[in-house]
This record gives sequence, C-alpha cells and structure tokens, in this order.
Amino acid sequence: MIYETVITTVNADGSAHIAPFGIRERDGMIIIAPFRPSISLDNLLRTERAVVNLTDDVRVFAGALTGRRVWPVRRAEKIEGYVLDAALAHRELELADIKEDAVRPELTFRVVHEAMHTAFRGFNRAQAAVLEAAVLVSRLHMLPPEKIAAEIAYLTIAIEKTAGDRERQAWSWLIERIENYNAEQRGENQA
Ligand SMILES: Cc1cc2nc3c(=O)[nH]c(=O)nc-3n(C[C@H](O)[C@H](O)[C@H](O)COP(=O)(O)O)c2cc1C
Repeated sequence: MIYETVITTVNADGSAHIAPFGIRERDGMIIIAPFRPSISLDNLLRTERAVVNLTDDVRVFAGALTGRRVWPVRRAEKIEGYVLDAALAHRELELADIKEDAVRPELTFRVVHEAMHTAFRGFNRAQAAVLEAAVLVSRLHMLPPEKIAAEIAYLTIAIEKTAGDRERQAWSWLIERIENYNAEQRGENQA
C-alpha cells in the first residue's frame, strides 16, 4: 500500500525542502523511493533525516508541481528537520538502509518520533481528485493530451460537487499548468 505524503528535508543551507512522495510501510519501517535526480534524495543522503507529513491541504501537493514550494513549517521535535504547519500528523525519521539503484534508490527509515496534531476529518473526493490531477501534471510529457483531457473532465465532477476553497485553489493551479503546457506544445507563447 502506498500513502501519499509530504516529505520535508533539510537543504545544505539549513532551509526546508518540501516535496510530495508516495511512501510504503514495511515491518514498522518507512520506505521512500525517489527518482533521480531529486533534491529530496540529495538531502536524505546527506542528513539521513526526514519528516513524513500527513496533510489534507492538497495545495501543498499541487504547489510542488506548479512552483509553489514555500509553506509554513516549524522545527521537528527529535531530529534536525521541519514539520509542516498543515500536518494533521507527522513522523520523524532516521535512515536505516539504502538499496542503491541508478534510477530509483529505495531508502528505508526507522521512526524515532510521531505526533498527531488534528483529527482526520474524513475522505473528500475533491482532495483525491487534486492528487490524481497532480500525478497527471507530473506526467504531462509522457501522456497523450486526449487522455489528460478525458481524466480532467472526469475529476472535475468531484471538484464541482465536493471542493472547498483550498481544493479549488489547488485545482486552478494544476489546470493553469496543463493549459500552459498545451499552449507551449501548440507553439503559442503563453506565460
Ligand atoms: C501524489 C504524488 C506522489 C509522488 N510520489 C513520488 C515518489 O514516490 N517518488 C518520486 O520520485 N517522486 C514522486 N512524486 C513527484 C515528486 O514530488 C517531484 O518530482 C518532486 O519535485 C521531487 O523532486 P525533488 O526532491 O527534487 O523536489 C510524487 C508527486 C505527487 C504529486
């Protein structure tokens, strides 16, 4: 099973780096598998620390793919690291093992601290739709435009029926990104 989370790592200059990653759990350990190249991977290998943030603020996911990477954070409790203010819960991790791979190494972490901040409020279809659209945006160069258009048309139903302000904002960033990409492909010079 894969859980979509936000991983915060520490850059060489001490600042926070924020990126969505699908993580897996095995025997109480957490597995993160970043495709190379990745700033998060560089940070993980250098510091051997990470924070897994569980958040329902889907703007953080959509933002990572549309150039909006700065979100409020605070210091982690047991490790050098940062916790998203928007985290419902978080886990602080230390690197335990690396399975090297030229394309996608697999890093296994032990949990050294975890905390819950806000209760899970229930599933929301618009949040799920934003996550799906974010994954589509990360694959724009690999997927035919008709497939993107068909999937966005379907996901729009959940947005229209169930979104709140945060979901609508995240959705608008992703749609703008897709429209700009399509315009670039057609040779139009949209900003
Ligand atoms: C829902 C979601 C899940 C993702 N999961 C992964 C993942 O497991 N591995 C990966 O390399 N990138 C994943 N990505 C893409 C990364 O977030 C994106 O490439 C990001 O920029 C990481 O690169 P960075 O470490 O250089 O910031 C995911 C993106 C989304 C929206």
